[in-house]
Amino acid sequence: MNLIPEDKKIFIKDLKDHVGEQVQLECWMYNKRESGKISFLQLRDGSGFTQGVLEEKNVDAKVWKTSQDVTIESSVLVSGEVSKHPKKDEYEIQISDLEIIQLAEEYPIGKKDHGPEFLFENRDLYLRSKTPWAVLRIRNQVFLSITNFFYEEGFLRGDTPILQPTSCEDTTELFSVDYYGEPMYLSQSGQLYSEAAIMSFGKVYDFGPVFRAEKSKTRNHLSEFWMMDAEMAFYDQDMNEDLQERLVKRILKDALENCKLELEILERDTTVMEQCVAKPFKRMKHFEAKKELEEDGFSVDYNDDMTTEEEIALGNKYGIPVFIEDYPFEVKSFYMKSYEDDKGVKRARCADLIAPEEAREIIGGSQREDDYDVLLKELKERDYPVSDYEWYLNIRKYGSVPHAGFGIGMERMTRWISGVHHIRETIPFPRTTVLNRP
Ligand code: 4AD
Ligand code: MG
Repeated sequence: MNLIPEDKKIFIKDLKDHVGEQVQLECWMYNKRESGKISFLQLRDGSGFTQGVLEEKNVDAKVWKTSQDVTIESSVLVSGEVSKHPKKDEYEIQISDLEIIQLAEEYPIGKKDHGPEFLFENRDLYLRSKTPWAVLRIRNQVFLSITNFFYEEGFLRGDTPILQPTSCEDTTELFSVDYYGEPMYLSQSGQLYSEAAIMSFGKVYDFGPVFRAEKSKTRNHLSEFWMMDAEMAFYDQDMNEDLQERLVKRILKDALENCKLELEILERDTTVMEQCVAKPFKRMKHFEAKKELEEDGFSVDYNDDMTTEEEIALGNKYGIPVFIEDYPFEVKSFYMKSYEDDKGVKRARCADLIAPEEAREIIGGSQREDDYDVLLKELKERDYPVSDYEWYLNIRKYGSVPHAGFGIGMERMTRWISGVHHIRETIPFPRTTVLNRP
């Protein structure tokens, strides 16, 4: 086929600027409807969706025949005039010419309602449907918002290795690989490396695929997901939460402004998200959260993490993101700064950010232990191989400063905004404990 030259290409998203003009589109036909002597071709080109209308009496017999022959998901070259829907903000093509680039074989999905398992076994094809298109474009916007935000805030994007000799989070959640005969682990988070990097750059962030080997089968867990870690020197936990709040508000605001079509496709009610942009986030201590839940009828464990049901209940109760602060240290990671509360409970200077609408924990963050001796003692108490962490301990030897950071789960954030049921919808090719095809 003759490709349309780059400077002549027109995309479906821009049809509104070409009303009354003759255009040519390189696209796919994702569906077809016929009504007597009129054919309605549903077209998509990656940038958006439109309808092509073809009337037998207005086109060559050859073009009409092509419109009858064309199959679902065939690639096509469409020519015609752009017109506006008389009432709606929608644009169509009155097709005058139609050329098949490749006639698709019978398409396995789309004819009837398939269950999610079938769709994910055919994820390579399912990606072409409207729901994944909308969700993954929202994901793209989330990455962009974070990049812009940190650029404006003077952060350096300093990426971190995926192959790591040590564990960042829980050692039981590691995937190991054979690295020239030595064991290495797939990253759970870039945080430890970012802590070293802020001693040079002050404020850094990274994006990276991270891996968790725990066999969690919830609709909020992936085995491979993307995390954005941010780390800041001369920062305490309050400053850390202030920054997270500004970032989350920015992400929501950008999505509401720039992803209108996507949110509409997903039939997302955005009332709560709009509230979250406008209102201050709630902050409460872990023991206060547990106490409230107890008063609301939960049988809680004050010494443990928040359960799924507890996170959902808090999100529903407040309708805005809630920072749950100062968890019992024993359920949190070794690197967190700790203190003893007035009841003698050792607590971490940390917060998880719980989002409403059943989105649950979207961010985990903390102030880091900046004292060499305290950190060394903790590593020993947890039976970590201290020699592997020597470089990390060294950050506390040469000009240690109070510092803090956080990690945002990119797919958890995307799931909240898009409102889809399962997190696997929010990454192009999900890796979970059960579904790994394709
Ligand atoms: O709370 P986590 O485990 O924190 C860390 O890894 C820190 N080192 C981050 C930091 O301080 N730089 O993970 C951070 C976030 C969670 O809040 C959640 O949004 C997401 O990562 N997350 C997952 N997302 C999908 N699937 C999983 N299995 C996830 N585990 C965590
Ligand atoms: Mg966490």
